[in-house]
Amino acid sequence: MSATNTQVLLASRPQGWVKESDFRIVENPIPQPKDGEILVKHLYLSLDPYMRGRMSDAKSYAANVAIGGVMVGEIVGEVTQSRHPDYRVGDLVVGRLGWQLYATSNGQGLRKIARGRVPLSAYLGVVGMPGATAWIGLYDIGEPKPGETVVVSAAAGAVGSLVGQLAKIRGCRTVGIAGGKPKCDHVVQELGFDACVDYKAGNVADDLAAATPDGIDVYFENVGGDVFKAVLPRLNPFARIPLCGLVAQYNDTEPRGMPDMRTFLTKRIKLQGFICSDRMERWPEALAQIERWVIEGRIKFHETVAEGLASAPRAFIGMLKGENLGKQIVKLT
Ligand SMILES: NC(=O)c1ccc[n+]([C@@H]2O[C@H](COP(=O)([O-])OP(=O)(O)OC[C@H]3O[C@@H](n4cnc5c(N)ncnc54)[C@H](OP(=O)(O)O)[C@@H]3O)[C@@H](O)[C@H]2O)c1
Repeated sequence: MSATNTQVLLASRPQGWVKESDFRIVENPIPQPKDGEILVKHLYLSLDPYMRGRMSDAKSYAANVAIGGVMVGEIVGEVTQSRHPDYRVGDLVVGRLGWQLYATSNGQGLRKIARGRVPLSAYLGVVGMPGATAWIGLYDIGEPKPGETVVVSAAAGAVGSLVGQLAKIRGCRTVGIAGGKPKCDHVVQELGFDACVDYKAGNVADDLAAATPDGIDVYFENVGGDVFKAVLPRLNPFARIPLCGLVAQYNDTEPRGMPDMRTFLTKRIKLQGFICSDRMERWPEALAQIERWVIEGRIKFHETVAEGLASAPRAFIGMLKGENLGKQIVKLT
């Protein structure tokens, strides 16, 4: 056991792009569990785009991190002390215990996980929050039917890479949009998408038209901005858009203009924003099905792993800029 608890705090609210100086790394005593609590040693930390919103003071669906507070984040950890009747030393848990090496918890919001079925870090990705997000957004909101065309942006990332594979399993033509040839090659050759458009090269509108000869029935939106503008004219009548995220806009300092609303009317398009935690009742079915498909080899996943808590700020900024392939994880021990 290391002698102190390393923590990453929010030092300042970023204006525009996040900087490493917006974080501060400190050492504090390891907390001691009270009656009814456990001490968790953190093994892996998840880095996710939503954390950018929590660093700002803009009103959102969840509370922001206070200046000087521990950065919010999900971890996989091991119980090292227990004064809680439901937990034993050695239990493995997933929970939002923050960017630090240890935390105490009364168990609220923690999920116990099994050892040995899938790699532990996968509980932060494909069989965790991003996995549930992809499954709920695509299957419940997108409602894809066999033979339809599904397009997903940030296709080489944690959520997008799974959306495309779930759409393939449903029998759809699946097209990704991602930044750069290596990511597009990965999406098609490793993950089995039918095509992938590199939005950083060529003419996105023309490339998307070539990749979607029958138009687009479901567009799983992860990025917004210019990518959304290229997708809009390709949407078919009665297309569905699960609006999952807008990562291209998270560092904006000014709001962007509205898209052409007439298209939504004339094509009778459904666009629905959603937050995965609003639909917790769907998580057990989603995660059980995804885990089974991962074990059967029907779903593949990739991780980009940064080493050590001190690398988290740099890795987080890199993820927002697209330096990750698949799920961005920090290995803590
Ligand atoms: N609604 C929910 O409950 C929920 C839950 C989880 C995640 N999300 C959202 O889902 C989206 C994906 O999250 P994730 O965890 O899977 O992250 P991720 O895709 O693994 O990582 C973010 C990716 O965004 C892409 N990106 C960044 N700037 C971009 C730009 N200007 N234009 C186009 N793409 C850009 C980058 O890929 P490229 O290299 O391809 O640009 C980067 O790799 C995010 O918007 C996130 O906020 C929502």
